[in-house]
Amino acid sequence: MGAVERVLGIETSCDETGVAIYDGRRGLLAHRLFSQVALHEEFGGVVPELASRDHIRKLAPLITEVLAESGLGPADIDGVAYTQGPGLVGALMVGACFGRALAYGWGVPALGVHHMEGHLLAPMLEPDRPTFPFIALLVSGGHTQLVRVNAVGDYQMLGESLDDAAGEAFDKAAKMLELGYPGGPKLAALAATGSAERFDFPRPMVNRPGLDFSFSGLKTYTLNTVADCKARHDGELHDDDRADIAAAFQDAVVSTLLIKCRRALKQEGLKQLVIAGGVSANRQLRAALEEEMTKLRGRVFYPRPEFCTDNGAMIAYAGYCRLQAGLSEALPVSVRPRWPMTELSSLG
Ligand code: KG4
Ligand code: ZN
Repeated sequence: MGAVERVLGIETSCDETGVAIYDGRRGLLAHRLFSQVALHEEFGGVVPELASRDHIRKLAPLITEVLAESGLGPADIDGVAYTQGPGLVGALMVGACFGRALAYGWGVPALGVHHMEGHLLAPMLEPDRPTFPFIALLVSGGHTQLVRVNAVGDYQMLGESLDDAAGEAFDKAAKMLELGYPGGPKLAALAATGSAERFDFPRPMVNRPGLDFSFSGLKTYTLNTVADCKARHDGELHDDDRADIAAAFQDAVVSTLLIKCRRALKQEGLKQLVIAGGVSANRQLRAALEEEMTKLRGRVFYPRPEFCTDNGAMIAYAGYCRLQAGLSEALPVSVRPRWPMTELSSLG
């Protein structure tokens, strides 16, 4: 087996089908994403079985497209990486079986990638990348984690959410504001039109030492504020109340995340911060961390917006790092819907 140069990456952990080809010398050659938002919208959230079925429909055409755009044929691909977990078990199985079978057919190695490692390494796809070690704030729909990253695979968990993840909190608050799915981006857009000053939302756990998060109190506070506003208007939620609640909620999440990042950087004596995962697309969060890192004479790195949320490029890159280091797996396909990132092998 020759050196691994070009890797096909497949992401199917939730409601986006993502595929990409990463080349060790030339960088990202092509990527495609199909979002299932329209499919799940009428149900107000992701329906796992529908997600799996749609991944089956989309994978082959998307892979054909990235190969064509890269000007490559199957013989040019040196390895296949797919998301092995965490995620929805059926959705993961689709990508895993497809990826494993393709690799077998093409006679190249395959490897299951950790979805959160994909997010964490996504800023490495940008021209301006951090150097090890750095602090990563991972904020997605299922995870809120502060990690010390010493090398690829060498992850020290500094803190995480004790209840809801930041993205999940955004989604639940959006539901309370009757904004529908996908909630996070809708709430963020509405927050930009409101005032964060009117309501005084709590900053959960910032007065306690440590780097863990909790967002359930904020959720209750949002629910109560919505109920108060409705009670004042015969059970109806007015648009100005909705916008002000969205702004106050977002402000509370952003300042909580910021305080914990500052604390983690100080504790570890580091000046580089990476933010990744769906919530890292949030403009207010980016602006707040930019300002903070300028004050601290440090730097914040994040992926371009389309690589903040789920995508195939991050899986192709993480897979490239590991396949190139000689890692690969045997034929049996397994997925890990729950999978602590600290169990990964270090490449450092
Ligand atoms: O990383 P991701 O695409 O999927 C998971 O691995 O979970 O993250 C999705 C999460 C959702 O909860 C979504 O509401 C949130 O990221 N999100 C946002 C924004 N864009 C996506 N939250 C706040 N502001 C945004 N602009
Ligand atoms: Zn994700």
